[in-house]
Amino acid sequence: MILPITQYGNSVLRVKCASVEQVDDTTKELVANMLETMHDANGIGLAAPQVGLNIQLVVIDIPEDEEEGEEPEMATVNGELKPIRDIMPLVFVNPTLEPYGKQYLFTEGCLSVRNIRANVARPEFVKASLPQLDGSVLEIDCGGLLARCLQHECDHLNGFLFVDRVSSAAKLTLAKKLKKLAQGY
Ligand code: NI
Repeated sequence: MILPITQYGNSVLRVKCASVEQVDDTTKELVANMLETMHDANGIGLAAPQVGLNIQLVVIDIPEDEEEGEEPEMATVNGELKPIRDIMPLVFVNPTLEPYGKQYLFTEGCLSVRNIRANVARPEFVKASLPQLDGSVLEIDCGGLLARCLQHECDHLNGFLFVDRVSSAAKLTLAKKLKKLAQGY
């Protein structure tokens, strides 16, 4: 089932989320619906607040780069280097992230902030501890789009949006657009 995606201006996007203590059939149904909603909207990540729930649950699905000759994106997963396609779609609760490395700018967008894209500076790499629905834990060390996406999605679990993290000059440029979004959400 496709769920409505909460939009900028909705206070549900600004709350620190509670951890998920118990995974049951309702959680699994929610995950299936979140994946369907994300795919339908052509997104690569969706956090629970974006469907109106303040719990620490995230789904990510980064499609493979289809350009010929491109090396597949790799990550170290539980100590083993593998293509990230092997762990997609990625579903986790209660993540712990440790970003590291130099900050770099990359253009981000968000399904909850319509029609706005902006450069955001974040560390290039992430070490992440990602508890799975079955109770196991994925330990990931990665860079690239996955590191970027993990940081963006985990921000959602703390009530942050990418537009909070743009430069002050960019904030000025975005202010009008954001005000409009907040009024019309
Ligand atoms: Ni987002």
